[in-house]
This record gives sequence, structure tokens and C-alpha cells, in this order.
Amino acid sequence: MEGISKEYILEENVYMKVNDKPYIILSAAMTIDGKIASKQGDTEISDDEDWKEVHKLRTKVDAIMVGKNTILIDNPKLHIKFYSHSGYYRIIVDSNLTIPINSNVITYQPEIYPTIICTTEKVPIDKINEYKSKNVNVITSGDTKRVNINFLLPKLYQMGIRSILLEGGGNLNWSFIKENLVDEIRLTIAPWIIGGEDAITLVEGEGFLRMKDAPGYHLSKVKTRKNYLKLKYLKVK
Ligand SMILES: NC(=O)c1ccc[n+]([C@@H]2O[C@H](COP(=O)([O-])OP(=O)(O)OC[C@H]3O[C@@H](n4cnc5c(N)ncnc54)[C@H](OP(=O)(O)O)[C@@H]3O)[C@@H](O)[C@H]2O)c1
Repeated sequence: MEGISKEYILEENVYMKVNDKPYIILSAAMTIDGKIASKQGDTEISDDEDWKEVHKLRTKVDAIMVGKNTILIDNPKLHIKFYSHSGYYRIIVDSNLTIPINSNVITYQPEIYPTIICTTEKVPIDKINEYKSKNVNVITSGDTKRVNINFLLPKLYQMGIRSILLEGGGNLNWSFIKENLVDEIRLTIAPWIIGGEDAITLVEGEGFLRMKDAPGYHLSKVKTRKNYLKLKYLKVK
């Protein structure tokens, strides 16, 4: 449509406002050297108290989001323990729709935690229907190699999702950081150094060349508990 402002994107014949997107909170536990898992995929970084706080944070958002590798490696349920709540959406980003149909995010309590898989338009409809038959909501976003996050967020907003807890891993985190889409960061720094260039860090990807290109944050809260450090950052407007 001629004359349409750059604030809008055209997706599936509907114009959506680009600015209408959920508030994104990136949450992770990392070692002193910034690793969120060992090179073997061991993520025993949080202690019980930290897990409890993560679950509390989960009660405050409309959805939780992780990348495909986190599902393949950890097979998490992405549910909420310790607190009463009415559930939320579990969102998985998976460009080729490959996560096993018996993954915990699909089979575990879907009536409380409905699952949305975000994929690309390249995926055949038969495959999409296979997941839909398991009550998974499949959303396509873009037709490139990876799920287009910029197109995806307004779609999630239209579904009523106003806040998302982004729980990694490092590659998905990079896609959000690259596009300056992370509004808040909640970090737990755990008292270990694990090293290893193949161990996933908080943010992977190609990275920015210059500091001036990187999104800035201001430190809004600091808390210590035993040997753990909890940090809260907010995006510099
Ligand atoms: N300590 C913590 O707090 C914490 C939290 C979460 C995860 N982890 C750990 O992190 C590790 C996994 O991290 P990871 O970086 O390997 O994987 P990831 O971020 O979980 O998943 C990345 C994958 O998601 C898919 N994807 C689709 N669209 C994407 C997009 N726009 N941007 C980025 N990815 C997209 C890609 O696979 P396709 O192209 O095939 O779709 C990509 O390889 C696991 O070991 C997990 O345990 C730790």
C-alpha cells in the first residue's frame, strides 16, 4: 500500500504496527566468565534459591521464550513451580520445525502452558499440521534461514502477549540484542569459572564491531546472596 508509514509491516495481508511489541526481559544464570552452560551442555549454574526467583519472575510475564537448541539439549518443561499462577505461553523459536513432538514443552500440561512454536514460511504445511494436531500453535515469521524476530513480535503482541521472559540460549539472545529488542536484563552471576571456547556464553552471534553500536543498559538493582550476585539492567532510552 502506497504511503504506509515505516512504522508498519505487512504480514499475511495485515498491516501491523512495528512498535506494538511485547516488553522483553532477558533472564539468565551465568558463570563469572559469562558462560550459560559448559561445553557439554551442563547448566547446573543456579542454586535452589535462584531457581525460586526465576520461577517468581515467570509468574509476572505473559510468556517465556527459548531457542530450539535449549529444547534439544535440556528438554525443559518451562513451567512455574513454587507459586500459584494461571499459566502462560511457552514460545519456542525453531526455523525448520524440528523439536521432537514428545518434547516436554509439548506434552507437559499444555492446558496450563499453551505452546507456540515460531517457525519460517519454508516449512511444509504437512509438518505444521503434525504439530497443530498436538495442540501446538504454529506461527510462521519470514521466509529466510531463521525466524524473523522483528516480524514475530508484533504477531505475539496481537495475540495479547505484552511481556516475554527470554530465557536464551546465547544464539537467540544475540538475535534480540542485535535488533535492540531487550528492554530489561536479569542476571545471576554464579561463583564459578568454567572456560571453554565451545561453552555457550550469554550472547553468541557475530557481535558488534564497535561499542557505540551496542545497545546500552543502566544498572537498576544489585543484590548479593551468599556467593551469588543478582543484577537488573534497564535499556537506556
Ligand atoms: N544458564 C542459563 O540461564 C541458560 C538459559 C537458556 C539456555 N541455556 C543453555 O544454552 C544452550 C543453548 O544455547 P544455543 O545458543 O546453542 O541455542 P538457542 O539460543 O537455545 O537456540 C538457537 C537456535 O534457535 C533457532 N533459531 C531460529 N530462529 C532464530 C533466530 N532468529 N535467532 C537465533 N536462533 C534462532 C536456530 O536453529 P534453527 O535455525 O535450526 O531453527 C538456532 O540455532 C543450552 O546448553 C542451554 O542449556 C542456559
